[in-house]
Amino acid sequence: MSTIIVTGGAGFIGGNFVHYHLREHPEDRVVCIDKLTYAGNLSTLAPVMDNPNFRFVKLDICDREGVFALFEEEKPDAVINFAAESHVDRSIENPEIFLKTNIIGTATMMDACRAFGNIRYHQVSTDEVYGDLPLDRPDLFFTETTPIHTSSPYSSSKAGADLLVMAYHRTYDLPVTISRCSNNYGPYHFPEKLIPLMIANCLNDKPLPVYGEGKNVRDWLYVEDHCKAIDLIVRKGTIGEVYNVGGHNEMANIDIVKLIIKELGKDESLITYVTDRKGHDLRYAIDPTKIHNELGWLPETKFADGIKKTIKWYLDNRSWWEEIISGEYQNYYDKMYGNR
Ligand code: NAD
Ligand code: DAU
Repeated sequence: MSTIIVTGGAGFIGGNFVHYHLREHPEDRVVCIDKLTYAGNLSTLAPVMDNPNFRFVKLDICDREGVFALFEEEKPDAVINFAAESHVDRSIENPEIFLKTNIIGTATMMDACRAFGNIRYHQVSTDEVYGDLPLDRPDLFFTETTPIHTSSPYSSSKAGADLLVMAYHRTYDLPVTISRCSNNYGPYHFPEKLIPLMIANCLNDKPLPVYGEGKNVRDWLYVEDHCKAIDLIVRKGTIGEVYNVGGHNEMANIDIVKLIIKELGKDESLITYVTDRKGHDLRYAIDPTKIHNELGWLPETKFADGIKKTIKWYLDNRSWWEEIISGEYQNYYDKMYGNR
């Protein structure tokens, strides 16, 4: 039996990963640490709270004393770091917390790994560290050797963290891996992000705010496929390596919005074009050849099925997201979209 520390497990991908891990590896103990920021929801973890192999600890990954005390107590075999400030628009408004959590938090977790016996460490990173690709060059993709070239405070903070992870490997021989994944979608996705925001607004017959002309392209991956990739990398990946994760599923934002409208039987007149995001990345596209060749990973959920499953989840779990959008989220929404 192994003990795995999962940070950020009350968030979207971390929460899905906790569910995935307890289901696929019931012999393991999963200790989730999460600060419960605006993006963290204990209701996401409610289905596993009573599992004897699961423990939740409310903790900031920047809290060195608290993190070290937990390592002393739990003696983990591996750490998977999902915890982050993750929303690009918020990073444009207020970069500081992104630098703190995403960089200092990463260093704190790795310092604890070093201090307690060079524990296996996995960093959940993003394709955004590669910057963007032009819209008129569909032949270009991000590979693991594409230079880091960030656009937003968010992606810069994630890139800073990635550089630190590789530096800890080289300097201290910390056994690390990094995964850089494309855009995820699926259950428990916080409704500030494109897909859940459009689903929630559609269901409430509210305007659907599309940035710029809606032509920006993202490469969408069903969240469970990402969880599988991380699990494989942690178990079988080569130490010191970066793995790109993505499903060759590029779509323009406007096409995603139109698909959601169609699935929900609403009208395209809900679409409202709004002022573009500052520094808006044009296109992301992952080349996942390395993880496929080395670890045999391939995405299993087709977008057509994944988006239907996702919409059904939001229909079946209205209380999960309605509770979120009825609180502080309203102030956020007014500030970000009010005069846009
Ligand atoms: P999220 O915003 O939904 O969840 C982040 C979680 O981290 C929340 O539960 C929050 O409470 C917690 N957290 C924030 N600051 C913390 C701190 N200082 N200490 C402890 N916990 C803290 O994010 P997500 O979309 O699930 O992303 C998870 C990770 O995956 C991030 O590292 C992100 O950069 C990366 N990623 C996300 C995507 C995507 O499409 N969402 C794609 C690739 C990579
Ligand atoms: O590529 C991986 C990244 O994907 C992760 O690292 C980030 O944590 C995650 O948030 C996501 O970043 P994006 O900026 O691509 O996701 P977001 O859902 O914010 O936006 C997706 C696209 O939709 C982007 O081109 C901006 C656009 N958009 C977004 C919102 C919220 C709109 O047009 N309208 C909106 O209201």
